[in-house]
Amino acid sequence: MSHDLRLERLAKTFPNGTAALHDLSAEIDSGAFFSLLGSSGCGKSTVLRLIAGLDVPTHGRVVWPQGLARLGFIFQEPTLMAWASAICNVALPLELAGVPVRDARARAAEALAQVGLSGFTTALPRELSGGMQMRVSIARALVAQPQVLLMDEPFAALDELTRGRLNDDLLRLWSECRFSVIFVTHSVFEAVYLSQRILILSARPGRLLADIQNPVPSPRTPEVRLLPVFNATARDILAILEDRVTC
Ligand SMILES: Nc1ncnc2c1ncn2[C@@H]1O[C@H](COP(=O)(O)OP(=O)(O)O)[C@@H](O)[C@H]1O
Ligand SMILES: [Mg+2]
Repeated sequence: MSHDLRLERLAKTFPNGTAALHDLSAEIDSGAFFSLLGSSGCGKSTVLRLIAGLDVPTHGRVVWPQGLARLGFIFQEPTLMAWASAICNVALPLELAGVPVRDARARAAEALAQVGLSGFTTALPRELSGGMQMRVSIARALVAQPQVLLMDEPFAALDELTRGRLNDDLLRLWSECRFSVIFVTHSVFEAVYLSQRILILSARPGRLLADIQNPVPSPRTPEVRLLPVFNATARDILAILEDRVTC
């Protein structure tokens, strides 16, 4: 299978001596949904930052066999401009890239429709709920038509119900748009619900504990949470995390 991205023996030690990541290798298949799962502080955000080129590894390298993909990055906070409407927030990356304002706004309106916010184009971020702000943030990433979407605990601050809805919307967008997703989470159940493959990291410095092909059948609908295989997979992953992560 062709892959977008190869992580080769990545290691990162920060200038203050903190070893965040140790010898991480993985291949990210084109179009796949990957999760990077591990406890807080184990180096997950560091991996995403290295993939995005926002930081450089101490050892190893990030290889894009087919050339650097168009990336979208979604953070835990929606990071919207408070003074700008939803559509202006979404159009901004295009306008910065030189797309004429008219076209940028039209594409932004389309992206907002994709995330179910057609009726909220002129709303300011403070007029939107946390879940809706995250939808704007997702639309802002989608508008550039990313080939790889990097998501850093995007739903961790949301309530359970909103998080479940956004999980389902993300799966729908992924099946429609066919980008690859690298999804960082510390939630075992979220990783099992969303992913095709799950990379489990140890406690700091993050090392690869396991690379799991998720046996839960697709398409994922809320009912799959009730399947025995769903619980068995979550239990296996928890065992891996508990066994080797605790000191
Ligand atoms: N710029 C930095 N300088 C020093 N230490 C850092 C820096 N960024 C992250 N760290 C440390 O590296 C470890 C891994 O961080 P991070 O990748 O953010 O973990 P995670 O996203 O899994 O919670 C943590 O102990 C964190 O405190
Ligand atoms: Mg993090």
